[in-house]
Amino acid sequence: MALGLASRSKLIAPSATMAMAAEARRLKSEGVTVHDFSLGEPDFDTPANIQEAAIKAMRAGLTHYTAAAGIPELRKALADHYTRLGSPTLPAQVIVSNGAKQSIHNALMAVCGPGDEVVIPAPFWVSYADLVRLAGAEPIVVPTEESEGFKLAPDRLAAAINSRTKLVMLNSPSNPTGLVYTRGELESLADVVLKTDAGVLSDEIYEQLTYEDAEPTCFATLRPGLAERTITISGVSKTYAMTGWRIGWAIAAKEVAAFMGDLQSQETANACSISQWAAVEAIQGDQSSVSAMRREFIERRRFVLDRIAALPGVACVPPRGAFYAFMNVSAHFGRKIGGFEVVDSTSFCKAALAGGGVALVPGAAFGAEGYARLSFATGMETIRSGLEAFDRFLRSS
Ligand SMILES: Cc1ncc(COP(=O)(O)O)c(C=O)c1O
Repeated sequence: MALGLASRSKLIAPSATMAMAAEARRLKSEGVTVHDFSLGEPDFDTPANIQEAAIKAMRAGLTHYTAAAGIPELRKALADHYTRLGSPTLPAQVIVSNGAKQSIHNALMAVCGPGDEVVIPAPFWVSYADLVRLAGAEPIVVPTEESEGFKLAPDRLAAAINSRTKLVMLNSPSNPTGLVYTRGELESLADVVLKTDAGVLSDEIYEQLTYEDAEPTCFATLRPGLAERTITISGVSKTYAMTGWRIGWAIAAKEVAAFMGDLQSQETANACSISQWAAVEAIQGDQSSVSAMRREFIERRRFVLDRIAALPGVACVPPRGAFYAFMNVSAHFGRKIGGFEVVDSTSFCKAALAGGGVALVPGAAFGAEGYARLSFATGMETIRSGLEAFDRFLRSS
């Protein structure tokens, strides 16, 4: 008899962004031209100084198990970083994991379980709801309005919190919308939370990628008493073009951090030792490559927004952070495009890939029907040719 899967297997679906990227890769391998806007991963090489630090670590024999929660040098560098931002942090409060994705999973496993609710404003990053379910808790999705820049209003947050609410998940700058809350807006959300027993998981992985006058804010620093109930998540993937190195972290109250470390010691043990040393250089070393990548993202964003403005039946709230354009494509629903019937974001994105060779991610994957996400973390050539192909696709029938 075949081995049956645990009931847990019904709780999660494969990541929609990864699924779309896999389909784009499959078509490419068959010789089809695909303009790939699906994955949220910078196309830049990891900066040379970071690569060198990794090589140095390898040659120095730093290739063994480390403490499960991370090497002291990296935990201290991160503790100093958050202390400088205004949230006094001890190395013991820092847990280094195999990417921010694992940090989020460990955080949820540490504080949530059956009977608990986790408030997630939509649109949200693809993995949030599934990771909450995997921890046995229930995601409570709170829709936001495009006309309000997809920002969660304090009264809506207040209405969503009850005695079962364990956490509120915030993500600023946001994937997929690129929204960046102002300090004042986050303070208003913090004030709502502080009147309750809920905690906050603040995913700040795009903290260094903001545009125009938008500023990143470390949520834990906003009000006295907030750090104790906030788990801050970040990592090196996006800022330093290090997606493959798999280093993320969580900053949490000491007891929560200690349990997350224990959990990780049983689950995966330490994140890759070499990557941890590379991350120390990323955080403490020369930051000029970060500025250079940011300048490039600024150029791409401007180009993408200009082009989107000229597309038929597409609207987009300008992203103020991260590297995504979250396009409202609902004006096309009910049409035939490129020979395909389009009724929702999933059929729209399937048609765009099959009929236009353009890989986007459906809004449905982010808990928001009516939209498609375009990642501009890809080279200017792809952006230029891909938006031309998308324009042709939208004008076809
Ligand atoms: C909002 C958000 N959080 C977390 C992650 C996970 O990043 P990583 O696991 O590469 O550190 C991503 C990656 O796409 C993201 O967009």
